[in-house]
Parts: sequence; C-alpha cells; structure tokens
Amino acid sequence: MSRLTEICKELKIADLDSLLSEVPFKEERQYVTELMELVLDKRNTNRVQRLIKQAKFPTLKTLEEYDFTKITFPLSIDQESIVSLDFVERRENICMLGSCGTGKTSLAIALGIKACAQGKTVRFYRTIDLANELVEQYDKGKLSGLMKKISKAEILVLDEIGYVPFNKRASELLFSVISNSYEHQSIIITTNLDFGRWTEVFGDDRLTAALIDRIVHHAHILAFSGPSMRLEQAMARRPKISEEKT
Ligand SMILES: Nc1ncnc2c1ncn2[C@@H]1O[C@H](COP(=O)(O)OP(=O)(O)O)[C@@H](O)[C@H]1O
Ligand SMILES: [Mg+2]
Repeated sequence: MSRLTEICKELKIADLDSLLSEVPFKEERQYVTELMELVLDKRNTNRVQRLIKQAKFPTLKTLEEYDFTKITFPLSIDQESIVSLDFVERRENICMLGSCGTGKTSLAIALGIKACAQGKTVRFYRTIDLANELVEQYDKGKLSGLMKKISKAEILVLDEIGYVPFNKRASELLFSVISNSYEHQSIIITTNLDFGRWTEVFGDDRLTAALIDRIVHHAHILAFSGPSMRLEQAMARRPKISEEKT
C-alpha cells in the first residue's frame, strides 16, 4: 500500500492514488481542485448508493419512466410538488389509493429513490412484513431496537395495506409505528382499500379510527385509476395465437 493510500485511509477519503491520472494537470490549483471535486463526487455517489441499499426497495423505479396521467391529485398538492419532495420537509404523509396494478408501489419507490439521491433516509416495507417483524421483535423483548431503526427514516413507506388482515398484536404495533411518526417523519402508504374498509384489516373499530386520524391529519390522498398495468403488460407479452394462425 502506498503512503498516499495510507493517508487517504486515515483521512477517510477516496484513494487518491487511483484517481491521480483521472484529472488533467494544467497548474497546481486547478489540479488539486478538480481532484478533490472527484473525491467529493465519489463520496456523494457512495452515500446515495448506501441510502438506496438501506431503504430495501423491492425493485428500482425512476420518476423519469413514470406516467402520472392516471393519478387524481387532491387540491392540497400537485404533481410538481410531490416530485419535489417538499412534503417530506413538512413531515406530511402521502396516501396512495387505488386498485392493484395501477402504479402505487412504483411511484412510492421512485419517490423514495429520489429522496435517497437528495441524501434522505428512507425505509420501504411491505406492511405485512413489517407487521411480522414487529411481532417477532416484540416476542423477543427487542422491540425498541426496531422502533428506533424505523424512526430514523425520514420517509417510511408502508406498502400494500389492505391485502392481508393483521392480528390484534400486529395492529397495535403498527399503530405505535404510525403514532410515533406523527409530525416527525413522512409516511407513504399504498392501499387498495378505502379508509371505510380499514377495519377489515386492523380489526378494532376504535384503533382503526385513531390510526386513520393520525395518518390523514397531515396527508395528501392520491387516487390511482385505470386498468391494471401489470395485466396490460402481461397481455402485451402474451403470444398472439389468432394472428399466428392466419
Ligand atoms: N403510471 C405508471 N407508469 C409507469 N409504469 C407503471 C405505472 N403504473 C403501473 N406501472 C407498471 O405496472 C406494474 C405494476 O405497478 P405497481 O406499481 O406494482 O402497481 P400497484 O402497486 O398499484 O399494484 C409495474 O411493472 C409498473 O412498472
Ligand atoms: Mg403495489
């Protein structure tokens, strides 16, 4: 290991030894400035990559490839404002409501990835997975560690509320997570169920009412419509039997 590499390690910066030849030399100041610019770029890229990894997105989606035309925005927020992520600074929530395959999860991921690119911490959960993890840690007496980890995220994505009902303990623990997030972090929720049917998922009437109350107090509710894109994509991939025969 070169002495330069050793020094960079101690300074906790990228290895200059391997970057020296990447910058053209004109004069000292220009050379050092551009070299350090490169070090800074690498640090930022690594940080974003780390944030994306920590967020545990199920797949990667970008806003550039997203079609917003099937979304009805509330008066409180428009597309531009959502994409700018201003709502995160204001600790507001986004609730994405619509049937299966209409692009809710994809948008939640794309917003999450943009947030990571801005240096924000995000944590993506399929809500049933979070519920199971909460119950598991609760049973082991280790709930506080998980709660702390969740509360560190500036954006908490709770995906797919509505497909699977939660048991009493899971409902109570999810309620705690949502209560803790209030005015402290933004939640993005995706659901196929109107709020009126959330009791079917969380069981208890009063708990469900209190939970919805906390979510919607500072929330923008986006309605997703149209046919399932998943179905349309599958139909497009399907072999065209009738055409082949003729
Ligand atoms: N508005 C959209 N723009 C781009 N792709 C979309 C859109 N809506 C759905 N898709 C695509 O359709 C599939 C299902 O979308 P998904 O986000 O999982 O839907 P949902 O979470 O509402 O069930 C994904 O492959 C996604 O890329
Ligand atoms: Mg989904």
